[in-house]
Amino acid sequence: MSNTTPKRCLWRAITVFDGLRTLTEPMAVITEGTRIVSLTPMRDWDASQGEGCMDMGQGGVMTPGLVDCHTHLVFGGERADEFEARLEGAGYEEIARRGGGILSTVRATREASEEELFARARPRLEALIDDGVTTVEIKSGYGLTVDDELKMLRVARRLGETLPVRVVTTLLGAHALPPEYQDNSDDYITLVCEEMIPAAAAEGLADAVDVFCEKIAFSVAQCERVFEAAKAHGLAIKAHAEQLSNLGGSAMAARHGALSADHIEYLDEAGVNAMREAGSVAVILPGAFYTLRETQQPPVASLREAGVPMAVATDANPGSSPLFMPTLMLNMACTLFRLTPQEALAGMTAHGATALGLNGLGRIREGADADLCIWDIDTPAALAYAVQPGRLRQRLFGGELAHA
Ligand code: NIG
Ligand code: FE
Repeated sequence: MSNTTPKRCLWRAITVFDGLRTLTEPMAVITEGTRIVSLTPMRDWDASQGEGCMDMGQGGVMTPGLVDCHTHLVFGGERADEFEARLEGAGYEEIARRGGGILSTVRATREASEEELFARARPRLEALIDDGVTTVEIKSGYGLTVDDELKMLRVARRLGETLPVRVVTTLLGAHALPPEYQDNSDDYITLVCEEMIPAAAAEGLADAVDVFCEKIAFSVAQCERVFEAAKAHGLAIKAHAEQLSNLGGSAMAARHGALSADHIEYLDEAGVNAMREAGSVAVILPGAFYTLRETQQPPVASLREAGVPMAVATDANPGSSPLFMPTLMLNMACTLFRLTPQEALAGMTAHGATALGLNGLGRIREGADADLCIWDIDTPAALAYAVQPGRLRQRLFGGELAHA
């Protein structure tokens, strides 16, 4: 990593994708310290405006630093065996029902020390950073005891303190039913509400609370209890919902003011309307759809028509999305779900930030954070079009040049 950024920097004749759209003409952009201070069309540019600036070069495409708003980067073990079992015909739900899947990662995560979890997660996060990420959300959810969930969240926080990236943490205690509570899921939800959430809130370890609302996980009523507890502790909420079936979890989450509902392949019109009314973001996760060879498409056309913002994220995790390449998700969101490249890019910048409650982040405009990427491509669409590592020319996080 290099950390040699001068105070005032100038990029010339670049194409800017500002987080929502591509600006129509080449720009000169100046950053100073942690902020973007000006964007000027080249035709109005006068060299004197760049006095005192370090010239950072010209050409290429500037985007906001990428925001990966849904990951499970901290986990023990791996699940290549499950990958092989699925190739032989086993289903994701079937594997989960016989104690594999998420629960096999729970066993490995409980056994791992904080140090081990950190050492394993670090290169995964570095892979994201090298692909342009400056903000990432990391969920717990493979501990499923108070201590193990807090352990995961501490690792996530420490990753953010160690690497040049903003880490947002989410407590996902209601991810799967741990074996100790088999046939007793309401009691486990009581533990999440009365012990896990208060402990995570008291230690400042969680920015939000998430749930897995699904037949193989928790019911809508149980998830609602979790949301009530989260809100009572001042934490934001979000949901894994409508991934494998339509239970109405997204609509319930929206009624509670959720930042986002994620996956949402089975979301219906009522769900779309509830999300629109609440201003919740629809987080599209093409990696899980691809890995599980799902066929039910998220209702992209309805979401678009309703004006529900769509985010795109990796869902990076050991089971349903062992994919640690955000720009691949841009490609998949377009190829698999027919998002436009601009929509996919907005989904991993401005709308990804909104899904984390970080409105205003993920934008290139005067006064915005100097979290940005310069790519060696001709047009923003090219970032989604080709799957090609190595195109990140420069990455600025908080005004500091830092990428591996
Ligand atoms: O986002 N849907 C539930 N949770 C994760 C999968 C986690 C796993 O399989 O380990 C997801 O797909
Ligand atoms: Fe997930």
